[in-house]
Amino acid sequence: MANTVLVGAQWGDEGKGKIIDFLTEKADIVVRSQGGNNAGHTVLAGDKKYVLHLIPSGILRPGKQCVIGNGVVLDPVALVEEIEGLRGQGVAVGSNLVISDCAHLVMPYHRALDSAKELAKGKNKIGTTGRGIGPTYGDKVARTGLRLADLMQPEIFAAKLATRVEEANAQLKAMGAEAVSYKAILDASLAAGEKLRPHVVNSVLYLHKALQAKKELLFEGAQGTFLDIDHGTYPYVTSSNTTAGGAATGSGVPPHRIDTVLGVMKAYTTRVGEGPFPTENSEIADLLHGMGREFGATTGRARRCGWFDAVSTRYAAMVNGIDEIAITNLDGLDTVETIKVCVDYQLDGQTVEVPPSDYQRLSACQPVYIEMPGWKTPTDQCKTFAELPKAAQDYARKIAELTGGKLLIVSVGAHRDQTIVL
Ligand code: IMP
Ligand code: MG
Repeated sequence: MANTVLVGAQWGDEGKGKIIDFLTEKADIVVRSQGGNNAGHTVLAGDKKYVLHLIPSGILRPGKQCVIGNGVVLDPVALVEEIEGLRGQGVAVGSNLVISDCAHLVMPYHRALDSAKELAKGKNKIGTTGRGIGPTYGDKVARTGLRLADLMQPEIFAAKLATRVEEANAQLKAMGAEAVSYKAILDASLAAGEKLRPHVVNSVLYLHKALQAKKELLFEGAQGTFLDIDHGTYPYVTSSNTTAGGAATGSGVPPHRIDTVLGVMKAYTTRVGEGPFPTENSEIADLLHGMGREFGATTGRARRCGWFDAVSTRYAAMVNGIDEIAITNLDGLDTVETIKVCVDYQLDGQTVEVPPSDYQRLSACQPVYIEMPGWKTPTDQCKTFAELPKAAQDYARKIAELTGGKLLIVSVGAHRDQTIVL
């Protein structure tokens, strides 16, 4: 019985949704423990495409339970829209979804503050998804946030919201931004709250009982290691712990009940938003964008692209305790003549062991590359590792070896059946 945490080992968009969907076949419960609808997890099931933002990807598999844990920040109106959107696509959402009453609420003033703060930063902007994630976690830490438990008690919610809207409007006005309407937020939130009510539980108790019943848990990490508020390329990060430890704090599942950490990484690197990216490369970006790949699932932005960076994935293996590795998007490199892999950084003429903690020094790092021959053959129809061209096998093995972890999965396309298990 293995409880597994799945984490992104890069800057998000590693293809976690697809791998989660694949692994859910064996798990009983899929848990989200951090982030909010800044996430965009794309899953292709049959000929249908689903993009999930807040709801765990397990929802697409009948008979599986999904939990939105206490560490998630959720926009109640967006969550209701997502539920209704899924129902419109024929997905059953009922008692298979439970939501922690400790999850913090993203309110329209958080989104307004997110935009206003980005605007004020000018060229130093973070490049957020604009979903209000930072300001919501900010309120949580400042102990002024509103939680789902509050929304379940309309009178308490109305009173707390009044205070918060007043404070937020003062801040918005001072930043030259438009004020938000208390009445509009109250009405929309209460209406959404009533629709969410059947799903709201104490998820710690729920998960505790599931563990007692020997259910298998799968934690669906959102974003990636280098967007972690503590371990990422601060301040160009999101506002939650995206690394493995966040699964415990964000769900109330004790750390020793987590058995395995699976790190998901692309066969190359991408990043959306601003911030340092040592192996960024315009040729590989042009190639991937030309193939119609690497446009964001949440914001539609073109992602920045670069070579595989083993210095950072090695660090990700350390901070998450990665046991097993899933490599995705291998087929993205099918036409490349010679593939580069970054194995070291040079800074001021010296090799650095780990990525420097400050973004200025990280930005100044020069990647040291090794070159590997490309395979120049389509891999998207390969069903087993042995069917992959030899050069592709070598490449996948090499990046797993450089990262440190057991190669478990190689993904060669978005469909469920384009998943090679070793
Ligand atoms: P925020 O999470 O909206 O505050 O955005 C902060 C940074 O994290 C920005 O660089 C975003 O592009 C990035 N980010 C947030 N969520 C995701 C995600 O799910 N995938 C990739 N990047 C993300
Ligand atoms: Mg994504």
